[in-house]
Amino acid sequence: MASTHEILGRHEVDDLEAILAITNTDVDEVEHLVQSNGDAIFTWDYDRSRPALGKLYERAKKSQWNAQTDLPWDTDVDQEHVVLANALANNTTFGTELDTKGTPFENWGDEEWLAFGVQSQNWTLSQFLHGEQGALICTAKVVETVPWIDAKYYAATQVMDEARHVEVFAKYLDEKLSGHYPINAHLKLLLDDIIEDPRWDMTYLGMQIMVEGLALAAFGFIQQMTTEPLLKQLLRYVMSDEARHVAFGVISLQEYYKELTGPEIRERQEFAFEAAVRMRDRFLQQEVWDRFDVDVKEVVKIVMQAPERQVFQTLLFSKIVPNCKKLGLLDAGDGWLRQRFTELGVIQFEDWTDTGEEYTTLDEVSKDREAASA
Ligand SMILES: [Fe+2]
Ligand SMILES: [Fe+2]
Repeated sequence: MASTHEILGRHEVDDLEAILAITNTDVDEVEHLVQSNGDAIFTWDYDRSRPALGKLYERAKKSQWNAQTDLPWDTDVDQEHVVLANALANNTTFGTELDTKGTPFENWGDEEWLAFGVQSQNWTLSQFLHGEQGALICTAKVVETVPWIDAKYYAATQVMDEARHVEVFAKYLDEKLSGHYPINAHLKLLLDDIIEDPRWDMTYLGMQIMVEGLALAAFGFIQQMTTEPLLKQLLRYVMSDEARHVAFGVISLQEYYKELTGPEIRERQEFAFEAAVRMRDRFLQQEVWDRFDVDVKEVVKIVMQAPERQVFQTLLFSKIVPNCKKLGLLDAGDGWLRQRFTELGVIQFEDWTDTGEEYTTLDEVSKDREAASA
């Protein structure tokens, strides 16, 4: 059994010094090489024996959309205006909820908070972009490595979905926002770990359950919060694809985990925990603070305590925790993962809706088509 140090490379989960020491040291690299392990598996068993995956595959074929023509790209986006309008609509006037006396924010006024809001948008959308490319690569890998024909069929549709997601976020960043950020080091570490692992089900656990489970929750949060109509629609469409992707993970792993032994399940629990912490760490946005004249460690300490931040962070786990429960990972063995999620302060989501079936209600593309043809 692995210790916290073996899993995370640090003894304490909340060791800020160690978290901030993980940085992207090669921000100018254009190509990033990762050793992709695992066997490419042919199957000669073409029987369509997995109806739940078959149903998902049919839905995916019907719900394809075109990133270039199905979104209102002519929408004018004034980024500063959007930052202010979002703050007003959501009743969050920057910084005022923090007691800034004696902190690095003491002298920050509206101008600084506005500049931060703009950078924060650039950063958030950039990380979505990089995460989507991770999903593209992981899912192409699943096509090769998963032994079931129904899963290969479905995964092939997800590869197309992910290409479209990379395309929309890249276009939105280029045409509507004001700058890109390189990939966050915690996210990069996690994506590398997922791709390097030779076991096909680990790609699913890392990507479909953890990264995409978090993405679905994060997109939903921002989709509700933003006042910018193009981004709202873009996220709505991306979410209808993501809900299928997470369902793909839940359906596949539910079947496969039945075959695994106790120690094998424990390794999956540890991997889920590692992924959860890496994703939480990435949301500290250390690269954004780096661009302002502030002590990053001091700032991150304050931000971690802000009540609003806590709500956002925990909401991100609202899909992951019920899905882990559905897969039996929460309580397997001695309930190790339940204990870890309790320490991370996210266990309260265990009975929220899991994503095994949610894709039918989130399928906005089909709903729009039906409305248009009625
Ligand atoms: Fe995606
Ligand atoms: Fe996805």
